[in-house]
Amino acid sequence: MHLVFESAICHEHVGPEREWHEDEKAFAMAMANLVSLALERAARRKAEQERESLASQLLQSQKLEAIGRLAGGVAHDFNNMLTVILGNAEYVLGTFDADDDRHESMVQLMRAGQRSADLTRQLLAFARRQAVEPRVLDINDSISHTLKMLGRLLGEDIRLVWKPGADAGKVLIDPAQIDQMLANLTINARDAIRGIGTIVLETGSATLDKDSLPNEDDLVAGCYTVISVSDTGCGMDAATQQRIFEPFFTTKAQGEGTGLGLATVYGIVSQNNGYIKVYSEPGHGAIFKIYLPTQADGTPQASAPSGESTTLRGSETVLLVEDERSLMELAQRMLERLGYTVLPASSADEALVLATSYDGRIDLLLTDVIMPEMNGRDVWIKVAEKRPGIRCLFMSGYTAEVIAHQGVLEEGVHFLQKPFTLKGLAAKVREALGDSETA
Ligand SMILES: Nc1ncnc2c1ncn2[C@@H]1O[C@H](COP(=O)(O)OP(=O)(O)OP(=O)(O)O)[C@@H](O)[C@H]1O
Ligand SMILES: [Mg+2]
Repeated sequence: MHLVFESAICHEHVGPEREWHEDEKAFAMAMANLVSLALERAARRKAEQERESLASQLLQSQKLEAIGRLAGGVAHDFNNMLTVILGNAEYVLGTFDADDDRHESMVQLMRAGQRSADLTRQLLAFARRQAVEPRVLDINDSISHTLKMLGRLLGEDIRLVWKPGADAGKVLIDPAQIDQMLANLTINARDAIRGIGTIVLETGSATLDKDSLPNEDDLVAGCYTVISVSDTGCGMDAATQQRIFEPFFTTKAQGEGTGLGLATVYGIVSQNNGYIKVYSEPGHGAIFKIYLPTQADGTPQASAPSGESTTLRGSETVLLVEDERSLMELAQRMLERLGYTVLPASSADEALVLATSYDGRIDLLLTDVIMPEMNGRDVWIKVAEKRPGIRCLFMSGYTAEVIAHQGVLEEGVHFLQKPFTLKGLAAKVREALGDSETA
């Protein structure tokens, strides 16, 4: 380094023919040393900064992991209870006439239960412990089905403009996650507008390379489908933008926001190998852009769920395994109402005994996933040894690790999210028994 620098000074400024004085040489050497020292110091500082940034990233991810585990644990028990509350409410509701006062009370009760279920779902999504069923979706199709729901969320003062881009492609994602992201983003936009304003929902495509998105060090180059949500609201400053994806960060008054909306969106986007960016200035609205990897043309698209026309009743025999007593009773009652014969087992051992001793045919194993002595997947394996070909439907309020690989269900594995309703249970049982094309 010294030599190169020295000779560069000599040749460029003085020319080779002139004689060098000793003090000039000494000066040049001193300068070269100084510069090299400064460069070394800068390199050391950069390394230190990188180390600090890595350490803080690690801390942040450990913090998220801990919150995630807590959220997941709470959601598990909470979802069990909610299933009992919602299931019984639904049952009682059916016994009242629509003009009975008690009918309205039950509807209110169910609405509150449903809202609590949504909140747990948010927590699970944020903790990335939600079992997802990704499908190849045409993004424009999928969003246009969500518009009505979004319109209801936004109210009359807000104009929602939908601009489907002709170049927007297909993406691989759970359709419920699209709804969840759009609901969170548009509700935030509505809150930022505080009155009359416009939200524009737009799709398109973009080719990203390593330099396209600053701060995304591991960006995977390729073709992405872009969903953007922009609003004419109050916007936000740089300091707020820095923190918006942090869980529990909110600028809203106490009781108005939990600060989980954008953390959830962020969780969903990363789970689907995408990116999210925000552009905003105070007083000039905000625009959020989500980039999801575009699926190649020709990828088969998921067929629409077969819906109402499917027969949701059946007469098959179901081996039901659930360690939570009230939930077991509820599920049994629901299944019997749908016409099934139910063999109840409150533990894995009991289920294995029944699988061996029961005389008739058993068509379906409906089992909880997390149980004290054996998890649902192992119960399935053991039962299937005695009853080869038996169909299986897992149910849980907290899933991912045991039956799903990184939160994604394998094909042919059927999963019922707790809390569930009679209708939800009925549809999933038929799907697991092989009726639905989406099975
Ligand atoms: N479109 C927007 N315009 C201006 N600020 C926004 C916008 N979206 C989000 N923010 C800011 O980001 C913060 C975090 O948003 P986030 O959705 O995570 O939580 P929240 O809306 O405050 O609460 P929650 O969604 O849990 O009810 C908001 O409090 C707000 O300050
Ligand atoms: Mg929000």
